[in-house]
Amino acid sequence: MTGRTRRLGVVAVAAVAALVVGQAGATAAPGDPGSPSYTQGSSGIGDAYFPLTGNGGIDVTHYDLTLHYTPPAPAPAPLEGALKATASIDLIPTRDLDQFNLDLRGLTATGVSVDGSPTSFTQVPNELVITPRPKLRANRPVKVVVQYGGRTTRPTDIEGALYGWVTTRDGAMVANEPEAAATWYPVNDHPLDKATYDFHVTVPQGLVAVANGRLLGQKTTRGWTTWNWDAPDKMASYLATASVGNFDLKKYTAPNGVPIIDAIDRDLDPTASAGLAQQGEMIVYFASLFGPYPFNSYGAIVDDDSLGYALETQTRPIYSLRARESTVAHELSHQWLGNAVSPGRWQDIWLNEGWATYAAWLWAEHDGGATTQSQFDSVMQAPATDPFWDLEIADPGAAHLFADPVYDRGGATLHALRAKVGSRTFFRIARQWVSRYDDSTATTEDFEALATEISGQDLEAFFDVWVHTTGKPTSW
Ligand code: TRP
Ligand code: ZN
Repeated sequence: MTGRTRRLGVVAVAAVAALVVGQAGATAAPGDPGSPSYTQGSSGIGDAYFPLTGNGGIDVTHYDLTLHYTPPAPAPAPLEGALKATASIDLIPTRDLDQFNLDLRGLTATGVSVDGSPTSFTQVPNELVITPRPKLRANRPVKVVVQYGGRTTRPTDIEGALYGWVTTRDGAMVANEPEAAATWYPVNDHPLDKATYDFHVTVPQGLVAVANGRLLGQKTTRGWTTWNWDAPDKMASYLATASVGNFDLKKYTAPNGVPIIDAIDRDLDPTASAGLAQQGEMIVYFASLFGPYPFNSYGAIVDDDSLGYALETQTRPIYSLRARESTVAHELSHQWLGNAVSPGRWQDIWLNEGWATYAAWLWAEHDGGATTQSQFDSVMQAPATDPFWDLEIADPGAAHLFADPVYDRGGATLHALRAKVGSRTFFRIARQWVSRYDDSTATTEDFEALATEISGQDLEAFFDVWVHTTGKPTSW
């Protein structure tokens, strides 16, 4: 996926526009009509909610991240860590490029090379701007190595919630949704550009670094331990983690063979992780509904510090202070619904949160708790005058990505769809959704088209009422 390119006549103006306005400029090789026309990659991938997020002109295939992290000193020292890192990034230019961007903020790049040649670069807000020489040819893969580092802090999102590389007293809680991967590595920070990952995270001996995927091993030398993790399944950048803490690692296997590693902060009471007890059964149950578990491993990170929420980091969700069973079901279901199939635009967030809400209702019912119908009924109890009905969930706005209606109206939408098309058809839609868009992204329009195709029903009015307008649905 490439960003849009706007052709501007004056090269200097184009360069300024690329950095300031977020539009790409195009630079024809001056005075040489025979030479290829190289362009600048754009500073955004085209997401309406986050204009500088992601970049145009590149397709990253793999990130190999080597991080050396020093957590804060004991209080009253400031809650700041130190990161010194190397990102080795395999990418494919999607067009001829004389300049391209990666997203990076709050950290300083000290060196960039492309295929081993040192390359000039600059940093502007949110963007690392790289000027490779020789220029890059479309479709010819290159390896970009970025040396970088700096102080780590406690970044916050547009709603004020902690996110990104959140420095804690004994390490870091790392949760990037929607666009905070850029707070800890140079990245094409949008789900449209999924990639595979390797992590090599060095922390003071005694601490544990937990990333996505499988633990390949760890090695201690002179008081520092390097933890190596391998995440070979494609992943959106908002789902990457490399959390650091005082963790105990618990290794076991789900009944269907999925290897599980839970990382639980040693300072927490055992009740904090009691909600993890049924993870294995939950994996089997969701696999029966949505298709085979999509990744090579699973597990939880439960830290003794708080982001104020949990996140479905790929293969290894992160929980703040406590992992409740309903939240555990929610984050696990995201592995199919959000992680294997990710939103094509941030405005499609209801597809993530509505599905995970509904999946947690399904688990509760399966486990002998409240029925999905009673959960639907309790959402529909809100009177038509309640501001709950004021959000158009298929376009909630960047500041309302995680607002209650995105979750609960989203879950209710899926229950209403099930009632309309019947359970058999509904779960066929769910399985097709995951298998058709696995390792990729999809939009609300894609979901409507699939539901229409599989049910054979005209669902236009249904989706208009439930997701494309405000107001309490009364008939559909
Ligand atoms: N995606 C998370 C979940 O529902 C929620 C989330 C991410 C969130 N960032 C947030 C919730 C900020 C509140 C505030 O699993
Ligand atoms: Zn969720």
